Amino acid sequence: MGKADATALFDLSGRTALVTGASRGLGQQLAGALARAGADLVVTARQAESLAVTVAMIEALGRRAVPVALDLRDYASIEAAAGEATAGGRQIDILVNNAGCNVRKPALEVTWDDWNTVLDTNLRGTFFMTQAIARGMLGRKTGRIINIGSVTSVFGYAGLAPYCASRGGVKQLTMSLADEFGPQGVTVNCLAPGWFRTAQNDVLYQDEAWLAYLVDRIPLRCPGVPEDLDGAVVFLASAASRYITGQTLLVDGGITTGATRALPRAE
Ligand SMILES: NC(=O)c1ccc[n+]([C@@H]2O[C@H](COP(=O)([O-])OP(=O)(O)OC[C@H]3O[C@@H](n4cnc5c(N)ncnc54)[C@H](OP(=O)(O)O)[C@@H]3O)[C@@H](O)[C@H]2O)c1
Repeated sequence: MGKADATALFDLSGRTALVTGASRGLGQQLAGALARAGADLVVTARQAESLAVTVAMIEALGRRAVPVALDLRDYASIEAAAGEATAGGRQIDILVNNAGCNVRKPALEVTWDDWNTVLDTNLRGTFFMTQAIARGMLGRKTGRIINIGSVTSVFGYAGLAPYCASRGGVKQLTMSLADEFGPQGVTVNCLAPGWFRTAQNDVLYQDEAWLAYLVDRIPLRCPGVPEDLDGAVVFLASAASRYITGQTLLVDGGITTGATRALPRAE
């Protein structure tokens, strides 16, 4: 294989990707990575206005970016967002289910509403967003669905019961949909980041003792930076992963290899 063939394997020119939760953090980074690989983007957040920075970043890369409002806790919002995303015959080739939230509490303090907030967003929302966008992919017999999981898709952590339940569910959902959609040419994989510092968890990283404890448990000896996800998302969206479906790709500096070590505890 020549260099040009290798580059073509990861080329997303002519494709359109939809990334949920792209107003900040990892979703914004994933949208940028797909744009740099040549894709046009539809990006979502609960308020379309909060996507201004992401849209400007993608347009500066020479790609198109359409901001769409989406609240994953609301079925009508999912239907409306999917309609807007595909308006005028636009086809979504790549769906990245990134939007999510977390509630950190001891299990005995988790309320009914805490549970619903996390599960409705991370698991139910991911499923129904996928259902809305997959209809077109299945009809065209091609498409890539990338569900953002977590190390909590495969590990349990104290203080994160609803989140771990949701992320374990995302991994299982990935396998079920991969089995169901595979015959129609649509792959479904789970991209599972390890510990990355973003708005969602910044408070943890302000505790130096906790950070030192965490870093000591990561074989590559540092938390992830958002750019560490670029290669994995482009890989799973591109021709390079044509024969891969139902898998969970952990991008975690190796922390899940340390299964016998004590895990960092969010107090
Ligand atoms: N950071 C990590 O270390 C890490 C590790 C593993 C997995 N993850 C997962 O990766 C994803 C991104 O993480 P992050 O750290 O970048 O989080 P973040 O900074 O909190 O960003 C979350 C994104 O999801 C959107 N969102 C939240 N609730 C939503 C809802 N009900 N409907 C639609 N969109 C909603 C937010 O948009 P608006 O608030 O603007 O609506 C925002 O764009 C999350 O699913 C997270 O669980 C993160």
